[in-house]
Amino acid sequence: MKAIRGATTIERDNAEQVKVCVKELLDAIFKVNELTREDAVCIIFSSTKDVRSFYPAKAAREAGYSSCALFSAEEPDIKGALKRCIRVMMLTEKEITPKHVYLHGAAMLRQDLTKIINIAIDGPAGSGKSTVSKMVASKLGILHLDTGAMYRAFALKCFNEGADTSDEEAIEKIISATDIQVKYENGVQHTYLDGNDVSESIRKPEISLLASTVSALKCVREKMVEQQRKTAESMSCVIDGRDIGTHVLPQTKFKFFLTATPEVRATRRAEENAAKGFNQAYEDVLSEIIKRDKQDKTRKISPLTQADDAVFVDSSEMNAEEVAQFILNKVQEKI
Ligand code: DC
Repeated sequence: MKAIRGATTIERDNAEQVKVCVKELLDAIFKVNELTREDAVCIIFSSTKDVRSFYPAKAAREAGYSSCALFSAEEPDIKGALKRCIRVMMLTEKEITPKHVYLHGAAMLRQDLTKIINIAIDGPAGSGKSTVSKMVASKLGILHLDTGAMYRAFALKCFNEGADTSDEEAIEKIISATDIQVKYENGVQHTYLDGNDVSESIRKPEISLLASTVSALKCVREKMVEQQRKTAESMSCVIDGRDIGTHVLPQTKFKFFLTATPEVRATRRAEENAAKGFNQAYEDVLSEIIKRDKQDKTRKISPLTQADDAVFVDSSEMNAEEVAQFILNKVQEKI
């Protein structure tokens, strides 16, 4: 007898979500293990206490998995457990090597079973990398590593210290005494500079150009890249930046280069800034974006450029959902 395990999470506790997600999970388990419904001896579910609206076993029956014994049970409360999580174990007499399936947030439960995947999304400022990366990561149940936030955190330190960014020796001293950490709270990245959460202050417009300037320095890039590689090795993530596909993770098979016209990018960035309460005229945003593009593309070390094997996406006439779906389709093709 072989046991195949799987898990998924639902966004909200309602009957429809339970039905859709249970079907999606079982369909995926049967598909990747090349089984038919008759191959199942029994399917056992357990779910966290916050899944109350519908029995997973009943959802399985309604989805057509009715030729075997079905059972669901409630799990005890475990501190730190995933929210709204449905787990499954399916027994079969078929002599297979079980392939376990973890969908949505549940992928984090068993990274030992699910291969680590790193999806690199590079592109210029305002191309929508961050928004799209968050969507793709959330769909796949993995985390999003925004590498720009790390350069921004260091730029903030230089800004606060009034450092002369043209003096590389001085910057080297500062960076060697700087601690930048990325932590996740409920799946959302928080960036810490010397122990302080700077996730909001690094988004100020005056930090953007400075981040581009300090990111051209060798000592800064070396430290950031080393940390980014370590993080990517330890977890599946969508990692966005300028040099991920070309330099940080050249071996990853999932690479995308996202761009849009400078005008579209400036419009998006101006809207984002306004929503955060940073009011900046469109013309100023556009000229800053053009200046940053030039700096990022022409710097000597790891300039912004498309990796030869990256998939090019022009998002000028696509919304974020469309771009995310396009990327997800490409990733699924290669998985
Ligand atoms: O993506 P962003 O706008 O938050 O990035 C801020 C700056 O950091 C960007 O202008 C260039 C630099 N950067 C980089 O050089 N390499 C990365 N992987 C990410 C960002």
